[in-house]
Amino acid sequence: MADLSVELGGLHLDYPWMNASGIFSTLPLLEKLCEYKTGAVVTKTITKEERTGHETPVFAESGCYCLNAVGFSCPGMYETGEELCDFYPMERPLIVSVASLTDENEVKEIIEGLEGSFDAIELNVSCPNVYKKIIGQDAKLTEKHTKAARGATKKPLIVKLTPNVTDIGEIARAAEYSGADIISGINTLRGMAIDVYAKRPVLTNRFGGVSGPAIKPVGIGCIYQIYEAVDIPIIGGGGICNAMDVAEYMMAGAGAVFIGTRFYGMPMERIGNFLEKLGNDLCRIMEETGAEKIEDMVGVAHEL
Ligand SMILES: Cc1cc2nc3c(=O)[nH]c(=O)nc-3n(C[C@H](O)[C@H](O)[C@H](O)COP(=O)(O)O)c2cc1C
Repeated sequence: MADLSVELGGLHLDYPWMNASGIFSTLPLLEKLCEYKTGAVVTKTITKEERTGHETPVFAESGCYCLNAVGFSCPGMYETGEELCDFYPMERPLIVSVASLTDENEVKEIIEGLEGSFDAIELNVSCPNVYKKIIGQDAKLTEKHTKAARGATKKPLIVKLTPNVTDIGEIARAAEYSGADIISGINTLRGMAIDVYAKRPVLTNRFGGVSGPAIKPVGIGCIYQIYEAVDIPIIGGGGICNAMDVAEYMMAGAGAVFIGTRFYGMPMERIGNFLEKLGNDLCRIMEETGAEKIEDMVGVAHEL
């Protein structure tokens, strides 16, 4: 197998992929995932206080998308911080996802509360805060939260963006300018499903986040735009199901990718086999397209 390792904003990854935040909700599961061919593992988003999430049903799916409203159920920083001390370090780089539901001071508090039990922080700016504002929809707020996170750690800082914006390049630039080492995206798209016979939205929360294969073209478009806007590396994802999808994200500009919905509910042993095949298939695509290393693929779709 060709060398699939990448250096990305201060992180060394043996494989150019990782799980998406929220797909494995416990640290023992992430520890198990480390046994397989993954470049890094990512926690579910941690907030300061524990949040229980929305009333069920919180999930709807079709063959090509998932709609979920579980994203706002988050473990609090106190409990998770203690647990992280027991599990850190892991066999692969551990990326801890954090989000503030109030202001930027909370970002600092959460990161400092984790006491360095992580290899990188992923700042999730896609949640609405108590003022009902989504940080990542506002360049100024993104700047404030990124600066606060930057001030709280010297380790690599990833800022994960929402696609629910007019110009994702502008938000990516604000994060880069404020100290992000890596941009990640995309988080879920806002959406709704209607139960025709009940004549009302399927989810109790009415709206949810759309993920899975249906959002891949949106993700590819966002990564393409971010690549043209910033000079820092990108972790891309949204709807990835196979090595061809990974190659597409890389050619749009991603130096590494994340995989979410494809793994949801998949038994761990199958994930091991999936990752093995992903590596082999990506090597074949690299050979067919004349790439010797991952770097040779990144952003080539811009060279028109
Ligand atoms: C059930 C579920 C829970 C999620 N929880 C989080 C989360 O805690 N933090 C976060 O940043 N993204 C969360 N996401 C979004 C994913 O990390 C990812 O950005 C999105 O699903 C798109 O990738 P995919 O199509 O490969 O799933 C969640 C997605 C799903 C489906």
